[in-house]
Amino acid sequence: MIQSVKPSVRLIVALDFAAQSPALALIDQLDPAHCRLKVGKELFTRLGPAFVETLQQRGFEVFLDLKFHDIPNTVAAACEAAADLGVWMVNVHVTGGQRMLEAARERLSRMTQPPLLIGVTVLTSLDAADLTMIGCPGSPPERVLALARLAQSAGLDGIVCSPQEAAAVREALGNDWLLVTPGVRPAGSATGDQKRVMTPVEAIAAGASHLVIGRPITQAARPLDVINQIERELAGLDTI
Ligand code: C5P
Repeated sequence: MIQSVKPSVRLIVALDFAAQSPALALIDQLDPAHCRLKVGKELFTRLGPAFVETLQQRGFEVFLDLKFHDIPNTVAAACEAAADLGVWMVNVHVTGGQRMLEAARERLSRMTQPPLLIGVTVLTSLDAADLTMIGCPGSPPERVLALARLAQSAGLDGIVCSPQEAAAVREALGNDWLLVTPGVRPAGSATGDQKRVMTPVEAIAAGASHLVIGRPITQAARPLDVINQIERELAGLDTI
C-alpha cells in the first residue's frame, strides 16, 4: 500500500460547491496539515483539472471523487489521467467488475507516483428495494462485503463504505486496507440528507481510516472550529 506523507490526517473535506469562489473562500481558512480535499463531479465538471492543480499548489492533497465506471481500457486510461494530475486518491465503481478493477490497478502500478485506488461498493443512497430494482437482490451490507472482497482481490487500496459497514468489512478484510467513510456528522450537527450517520469518533472506532465530511464544515460559520473540534475528539480516541 502507498504510504501517504500525512498518515495521521484522517479528515477529507468534501468541496461540494457550485463555483470556484465559495470553494476558495473556504480553502483560504483551511490548513493542508489538518485535512485533505475531495473534489467531486460537480466542481470538476465546472472547473476541470486546473482547479485541482490550484488546490495542490496550495499544499492540499486531493481525493478526485469521479467514481469511474466504464470498460476496462477506458477506466485504466482515466486513472492514468488522474495520476498525471498528481491526485492523492482516485476511485472507481467496484461493480465495473474484476477486469475493470485489475486494468485500473495494473495501469496505476506503472506510474511513478500513483494515487491510492479506492472502490465504491454500494452507494449509500440505495436500499434493498433499490438494489432489487436494478437486478441485484440482497441486503446492502451483504453486497458491500462481497464487493469489498472483490476490490481487495483485484489489488485496490481500499473502499468507500458507510461507517455502519466499517466494522464488518474490517473484520472480514483486515487492517491493511483503507475504509473511506462519508455519512459522518460531528455530534450536534445537522444530518441533512444523510440517513445513517456516525460521529467521527464512532466511525474511526468502527474501523474507518478516513472520514469524508462536507456540509458540517463547508456550511459552518467557523469551519476551522469544527475541524479543531473533530481533531480534539479523535485525539481523545487515540489515547484510549
Ligand atoms: O455534506 P456531507 O458530509 O453529507 O457530504 C458527504 C460527501 O460524501 C458528499 O460529497 C457525497 O457526495 C459523498 N458521498 C456520500 N455517500 C457516498 C459516497 C460519497 O455521501 N456513498
